[in-house]
Amino acid sequence: MSQASRVLNATLRNKIMSADEAAALIPSGVNVGMSGFTGSGYPKLVPAALARHINKHNQAGEKFRIGVWTGASTAPELDGALASVDGVEMRLPYQSDPTCRRRINAGEMEYIDIHLSHVAQFVWFGFLGKLDIAVVEVAGIREDGSLIPCSSIGNNKTWLDQADKIILEVNSWQNPELEGMHDIYYGTQLPPNRMPIPIVRPGDRIGEQYFRCDPDKVIAVVETHSPDRNTPFTPPDNDSRRIAGHVIEFLEHEVKKGRLPANLLPLQSGVGNIANAVMAGLNDSKFEHLTAYTEVLQDGMLDLIKSGKLDFASATAFSLSPDALANLNANMRQYRDKILLRPQEISNHPEVIRRLGIISMNGMIEADIYGNVNSTHIMGSAIMNGIGGSGDFARNAYLSMFVTPSQAKGGAISCIVPMVSHVDHTEHDVQVLVTEQGLADLRGLSPKQRAKVVIENCAHPDFRPALREYYERALHSGNGRQTPHILDEALSWHSRYQKTGSMR
Ligand code: COA
Repeated sequence: MSQASRVLNATLRNKIMSADEAAALIPSGVNVGMSGFTGSGYPKLVPAALARHINKHNQAGEKFRIGVWTGASTAPELDGALASVDGVEMRLPYQSDPTCRRRINAGEMEYIDIHLSHVAQFVWFGFLGKLDIAVVEVAGIREDGSLIPCSSIGNNKTWLDQADKIILEVNSWQNPELEGMHDIYYGTQLPPNRMPIPIVRPGDRIGEQYFRCDPDKVIAVVETHSPDRNTPFTPPDNDSRRIAGHVIEFLEHEVKKGRLPANLLPLQSGVGNIANAVMAGLNDSKFEHLTAYTEVLQDGMLDLIKSGKLDFASATAFSLSPDALANLNANMRQYRDKILLRPQEISNHPEVIRRLGIISMNGMIEADIYGNVNSTHIMGSAIMNGIGGSGDFARNAYLSMFVTPSQAKGGAISCIVPMVSHVDHTEHDVQVLVTEQGLADLRGLSPKQRAKVVIENCAHPDFRPALREYYERALHSGNGRQTPHILDEALSWHSRYQKTGSMR
């Protein structure tokens, strides 16, 4: 299919222009809702053209900055390009770009890290102010003006509905066989008129295959032919294989106990190398007829579909390494009946997650001895990526698990600490912690009982004596015996790392 033939609507064909012309229609000070979710389906040309445009203004001594809202992380062509020219006033929600991260941590860019399921409704409710312009990548424009979604859905439906003006990037690189793999739900009402989301199985279709789009709002159509770009995962190492082993042994135990069916419950697997490795581990397990109701579809999950172990996966985006992406595109026919992409407010909807009984597995930075989890901040202050959908899933899952190696930075940091330096998931939302050392099942345990299991099962042996000693002293400190802490010392492991380069 040729590039031009993907814009089939006559009115919108008249609005085709270059990326530079389209970018010039975006003024300083506006909020722009961009497509893009974990390296998939982000606009490839307009953000870079906008960055060039901003740079010219900067050089002329005029401040030019915009608010950038997305589905989640994007790629160097979007987050990297705009951050490198200091063009972003406010960024939300999840990001993972190194330049963006540096700007945020240097105090040069404001960043709001919110649950991914909240973003769309915050915009509908008017909590975030006005959305001025949407810049959305699509796989094609149909004759009737409806839009064929591409490799991610994210918040695109909301951006197209809510923005005053729309710029469309029609990317002919996107596989035409993606058409039909999407389910765009248009039934959401605002409170007090909300109705149940009628999904009772991961594969249930409740919406439409295409985005609706008001052609009068479209101010530009830009044609591109450019691939999605995602970073490769690091191959599973010994630690991640051991983590996967503990998870699988635990799931087998839960089946034996009658607390899970033989084919488990729908899986959610988070971003990151370790979460991906756990999926790879499931491929070598004896589980079959698995399903997934998840946010991102990473390499590990695609492999499970390929090997026939996973019957169906619902997600909002692909998040694939270059090799896995090439495999998907070459064999889309084999996958297309087994995958559905939905808007992120539906893929991450608390009501649906609770109803389906999801088994949720997410990466973390650190956990404390009582089971509080930090997924986002380094040493309490610097952002890593963001909470993403981990909170949407953890609080509402049937089983919520968090995984990490027990140590970071070559053993200088213990990922099990007396008190986390930032809390994303409280002790109430965390049921199972897993490191390469072992698994702590925290269900039904009081904080004091949890501390023992977390220290003995999850902490690295080098750090266990110091954790035991801290806990015992806290217990007998007279400060209270529900969740014992010595406040002066609770964060001393982190301050020691900052002063000496090691928690040891
Ligand atoms: N203290 C300081 N740094 C730490 C650390 C700690 N306790 N634990 C890990 N790190 C560092 C690692 O050294 C590594 O740094 P590097 O990039 O400089 O090498 C980095 O954090 C990532 O660690 P890694 O072990 O490779 O983890 P990962 O790729 O599995 O990612 C998270 C882990 C927590 C960063 C990632 O899962 C995440 O962003 N989670 C939040 C969002 C989420 O869960 N989304 C899923 C919802 S669907």
